[in-house]
Amino acid sequence: MLVPDIIIAVDGYSSTGKSSFAKLLAKEFSFLYLDSGALYRGVTLFAQENGFISADNSIDVPGLEKGMESLDLHFSNVDGKNVLFCGERNVEKEIRSMKVSSQVSPIAAVAEVRVFVDRKLREAGASKRVVMDGRDIGTTVFPNAEIKLFMTASAEVRARRRFDELQAKGENPQMEEVMKNLQERDYIDSHRAVSPLVQAPDAFVLDNSDMTFAEELAWVRGVIQGKFGILE
Ligand code: CDP
Repeated sequence: MLVPDIIIAVDGYSSTGKSSFAKLLAKEFSFLYLDSGALYRGVTLFAQENGFISADNSIDVPGLEKGMESLDLHFSNVDGKNVLFCGERNVEKEIRSMKVSSQVSPIAAVAEVRVFVDRKLREAGASKRVVMDGRDIGTTVFPNAEIKLFMTASAEVRARRRFDELQAKGENPQMEEVMKNLQERDYIDSHRAVSPLVQAPDAFVLDNSDMTFAEELAWVRGVIQGKFGILE
């Protein structure tokens, strides 16, 4: 299927399989994949390591804002994967840890942090043919994205996916803690003042609780074909 030069925005709750799905689409249509959550996670790691966030989640916003002026977060290709670097350092493993997950949503609620990340995302999306996943891609970052998808799945399915993912990475997760973290992040992400997680009115909703990747792909092909009148 020949897909035109468009932006595909994939938004939704934590662990709904957004990133696996977005990566699949990028591969299928030869688009660039961009993980906006990785940038929020990168800023969180930076804030933790430099004392801009404390254990009780209080954030030194002026300090963090100043620190971000020289913060070099970027993606680089490592063995065919788009991996996050902070300067020379590959931070991919650290940013996926529970420690970062536990503080990323308060950090992502800071307006100055969102400005920092949005700038990077818009630069990357300027050339189109991009699939971007996150919480506010179709509402704030690219409100004119040609295709907007909103992903959801049951809480049990989401917690199980994240649990398996952490275990596969060699962490020793507790199911209760994983579930609690998902629920907390859903709440903070949906209730924050700046760019909350909401479904764009023109988004297509995908509940993938019981779907395989092949079914998801068939579904999105149908969406794109319908939107652009492509026959095959
Ligand atoms: O992979 P997972 O669904 O756990 O989350 P993520 O995409 O890595 O995003 C981590 C966190 O970053 C989210 O819980 C949000 O707090 C924040 N985020 C955001 O606010 N806006 C985005 N566009 C992407 C992520």
